[in-house]
Amino acid sequence: MKARIALLAGDGIGPEVTAEAVRCLRAIETRYGHNFEIDAAPVGAAAMDLGLEPLPSPTLAACQHADAILFGAIGALKYSDPNLKVRPEQAILGLRRELGLYANLRPVVCYPSIVDASPLKPELLTDVDILVIRELTGGIYFGAKTRTVDSASDLCVYSAHEIERIARLGARLARTRRSRLTSVDKANVLETSRLWREITTRIVATEFPDVILDHMYIDAAAMHLLRRPSDFDVVITENMFGDILTDEASMLPGSLGLCPSASLGDGRLGLYEPIHGSAPDIAGRGIANPYATILSAALLLRYSLQLEQEAAFLERGVIQALEAGVRTADLRPKTSAASTQQAGNAVLAYL
Ligand code: IPM
Ligand code: MG
Repeated sequence: MKARIALLAGDGIGPEVTAEAVRCLRAIETRYGHNFEIDAAPVGAAAMDLGLEPLPSPTLAACQHADAILFGAIGALKYSDPNLKVRPEQAILGLRRELGLYANLRPVVCYPSIVDASPLKPELLTDVDILVIRELTGGIYFGAKTRTVDSASDLCVYSAHEIERIARLGARLARTRRSRLTSVDKANVLETSRLWREITTRIVATEFPDVILDHMYIDAAAMHLLRRPSDFDVVITENMFGDILTDEASMLPGSLGLCPSASLGDGRLGLYEPIHGSAPDIAGRGIANPYATILSAALLLRYSLQLEQEAAFLERGVIQALEAGVRTADLRPKTSAASTQQAGNAVLAYL
């Protein structure tokens, strides 16, 4: 198959981890006889350093014309002053919004070979396989913001339509798994959550009667995620709750460096990125964990290019690398830590 992939490496460790994912995509391309046209474009602080906007219009155009986007990370210390008007983070928010990528799939899986990398007790981690679907283009992230000298506000708005499409996607994906759907909200306090709960209840009852739906408050969900993580199957939640909950969930496998994501809309175009940030403290040292980005490339193969076999093969490569004990520093290596490239090599050895 012929496919066009926009490569937005971005900032900090972004270029290092995406380089390994690209090597893996090239190996898949050769092995299966595909033709991937992979074109790099500047984004975030890297674009700002070139005197451009965080999301330059040629970069946005390249994304619009691509079949899929592989994204590294965004954010840099020199642009981290919260009072700056133009910030690198605006690029990823702009991409999600402009491309209509409203559903963010964040799988959280505990791999048996590295349970010891988690700060949690190993007996809690058996059979943990969670798919969090985070609403990505609404809520408090995108509502009107105001600021005076001594007050500020961020508006949280959700329309029925925005909730319905997440509820449907969650229920549809739950059907392909254990048919359990947990909707996370704060309906005891927030009006948007009350609407969220009302709509998810109706959609599941009328369109997916075979799916078991339960509702959980975000504070309770944050607790149960650590107390009984294997009970969760598919979780749907709004933008900010999903952001926070998935960073917490990354401690189940043991590192943000193991958690990929897929941002999807109504068409095939998707954006694939690790859920971790640009990690400026370790950038440029060749020690970052590339597995989350490689797993994101697998999601790219699965969801945008519909190459399920190739996706599963690439995921198998990461699992084999972990089973072979190839661990970057974040994964509590038993002996010496692997470099970013060595981790990539271990996946390539399998491929
Ligand atoms: C994420 C990140 C982003 C978010 C930041 C960089 C704007 O934390 O993708 O989880 O909050 O969505
Ligand atoms: Mg986040």
